[in-house]
Amino acid sequence: KRIGVLMGGLSAERDVSIKSGMAVHQALLKRGYDSTAIDVRHSVADVLREERIEVAFVALHGRYGEDGCIQGLLELMQIPYTGSGVLASALAMHKLYAKQAFSAAGLLTTPFVAVQRGATITPEQLPFGLPAVVKPVQEGSSVGVAIVKQAAELAPSLDEAFRYDRIALVEQYVKGQEVQVGILNDRAIGAIEIIPKKEFYDYEAKYADGMAEHVFPARLAAELYETVQQLGVQAHRALGCSGYSRVDFLVTEQGDCYVLEVNTLPGMTALSLLPEIALKGAGLSFEDLVEEILSTAGL
Ligand code: DAL
Ligand code: MG
Repeated sequence: KRIGVLMGGLSAERDVSIKSGMAVHQALLKRGYDSTAIDVRHSVADVLREERIEVAFVALHGRYGEDGCIQGLLELMQIPYTGSGVLASALAMHKLYAKQAFSAAGLLTTPFVAVQRGATITPEQLPFGLPAVVKPVQEGSSVGVAIVKQAAELAPSLDEAFRYDRIALVEQYVKGQEVQVGILNDRAIGAIEIIPKKEFYDYEAKYADGMAEHVFPARLAAELYETVQQLGVQAHRALGCSGYSRVDFLVTEQGDCYVLEVNTLPGMTALSLLPEIALKGAGLSFEDLVEEILSTAGL
């Protein structure tokens, strides 16, 4: 079958996606698949037809790629694709609706306030104090995210978030270990811990080598390690995700696991976490992981 690896795209995470996509494409070639790299632009439907793509490996991140748009197009074109479907993708990408779904499923998420572009909110109006975290409601890779410590920083941080979206979330800052659970074939395959060298795991810490330390397995007591993995599966299910994802948590000293988000198209770059979890937690090489994900296309 002819596989198209969809990458690049039109989101703020375009560069990351090209890295993910090229890594996936190389892995497929190495394993003998008929793979072609496709840079996704508005003309993607024509390209898919011209290239006679029979299966799509979605290696996009962010808007149009991770939010259900491309999944909807592939459904219409009857091309099987890897990863989650339209609704789960859209829900997972939308941090506000995802939080509502997590809460409905009994999962813990950080207290928050949603703010519309054009509206204002003062630090005194927040039901929790500072520090707080400001983020655009639909972005990835921490684009547009800021930690607000001083009252005067709230308005400019919201303006920055509104560059990416019409809605921003102001969340209570929760101090804890950053733990990410890998999900493959709808099961947890391990939990990794991130220790950023900067204040938090921002864009640079995610993609510049040496800017974050990865610890596998996450430094949690055995029982808590099991719990966070179970919660990862629950979060994946709460949004109706299919196949694979990476679920990000903050785990407090008291052992509370706050789910931050489910990434339906987690990074597949050299520094990315899911490939590391797959290798260390399940003994899967990068090529094995790619083949495993491919095998679920269209299920
Ligand atoms: N959004 C980036 C690609 C990740 O979750 O890995
Ligand atoms: Mg993300």
